[in-house]
Amino acid sequence: MSAPRVRIADIAGYDGQTVSIAGWLYNLRRSGKICFPLLRDGSGIIQCVAVKANLPEALFESLKDLTQESSLIVTGKVRAEARAAGGFELDVEAAEILQRVPESDPYPITPKDHGIEFLMDHRHLWLRSKRQAAILRIRHEVVKAIRDYFDNHGFTLVDTPIFTPAACEGTSTLFEVKYFEDEMVYLTQSGQLYNEANAMALGKVYCFGPTFRAEKSKTRRHLTEFWMVEPEMAYADLEDVKTLAEGLVVYCVGRVLEHRRAELDVLERDVKKLEAIQAPFPRMSYDDAVKVLQAKGSEITWGGDFGNTDETLLTQDCDRPIMVDRYPSEIKAFYFQPDAENDKLALGVDVIAPEGYGEIIGGGQRIHDPELLLRRLKEHDLPPEAFNWYMDLRKYGTVPHGGFGMGVERFVAWMCGTEHIRECIAYPRMLYRTRP
Ligand code: 4AD
Ligand code: MG
Repeated sequence: MSAPRVRIADIAGYDGQTVSIAGWLYNLRRSGKICFPLLRDGSGIIQCVAVKANLPEALFESLKDLTQESSLIVTGKVRAEARAAGGFELDVEAAEILQRVPESDPYPITPKDHGIEFLMDHRHLWLRSKRQAAILRIRHEVVKAIRDYFDNHGFTLVDTPIFTPAACEGTSTLFEVKYFEDEMVYLTQSGQLYNEANAMALGKVYCFGPTFRAEKSKTRRHLTEFWMVEPEMAYADLEDVKTLAEGLVVYCVGRVLEHRRAELDVLERDVKKLEAIQAPFPRMSYDDAVKVLQAKGSEITWGGDFGNTDETLLTQDCDRPIMVDRYPSEIKAFYFQPDAENDKLALGVDVIAPEGYGEIIGGGQRIHDPELLLRRLKEHDLPPEAFNWYMDLRKYGTVPHGGFGMGVERFVAWMCGTEHIRECIAYPRMLYRTRP
């Protein structure tokens, strides 16, 4: 009988049994008559023990100087070993080498330090490292948690288009695409406008997909292509939007803590910081935030947008995200409902993460009055013809409504404690990077 093929992640269920693991050589230590290939299979890493005396000579010889990232299937007996990283080792009985990476053209990413540009150029291989795999698994958990949260709260997933005829978040960050002969379309900046239509049809909806911004910023928080989840609710106001945002964040952090401890360990993330993320989040108006920032020495004046440094300053003494609302309408997109008490303020909210991770969520209440909406489109120099369908939502049963967008990479960067969000998506697109 041949040995069952198992994943390293499931190895604990096979103690004492002979199994096969299909993977790649992560690293290798040797000392004379024994060698220790570290095998990774995508689900984990296990140390194998190959003893010369127990194996055919040719096999031992081929294992003992096997090269990094060679592909092989190892068969051996699983043995509990308290000192091993995953708690188990594999005593090699047989192995089949599928491809030996030649010494003449070795795997380019070695255990020594490489510069970030080199690693980014080799992103397709870099993903095999422990750290990058941990980040991708945390990203997966976050995406799954987001979906579960909305699915469990009565939201319907409705996907919105990528090719769009009009701007949602200002005309300065649009990517134009030639659409057949003489039509120009844009890559979507946000599914929000369509989401608003979908919410009028289904009540509570969300869209979840890639969004694009031709932002010429080189900060550690900006990508030109990023994933955003956007819920939208009919019959909802700014308070409803804040409550939903808080609930989502707390739930997603909880899921990462519950299911991705091992990955957080690999990343040496301080989990106490994540455990502190509990409701309620502090709430603050833009007015007050400006005062707080000025008192902390920021040069911001009323009417200005917060820069990265401001966001970091604002959350400095805070162990959880802060929700800042009622920004000046002037610095916000066209669609924000004005505050009934001061129409210079927009009923928008930003959720700003602690530890310098900045704005992870932006959203608010939308204009539901047709006249005001039309006025705003003109003030923002947006072509009303392109928004006819959007205006229809204010003609046929208009209601207060709202929602938000959460950037997946920003959220994942915060969970993982990464310096830059470029590590939080498999193939980042940035101002100076569109490859590999
Ligand atoms: O604040 P933003 O621009 O809001 C919107 O797009 C709304 N239409 C969303 C809505 O209400 N449905 O973007 C929302 C979030 C930000 O808080 C941030 O997390 C992320 O999207 N984001 C980016 N992430 C990475 N790179 C960029 N260039 C980003 N721009 C925004
Ligand atoms: Mg924003």
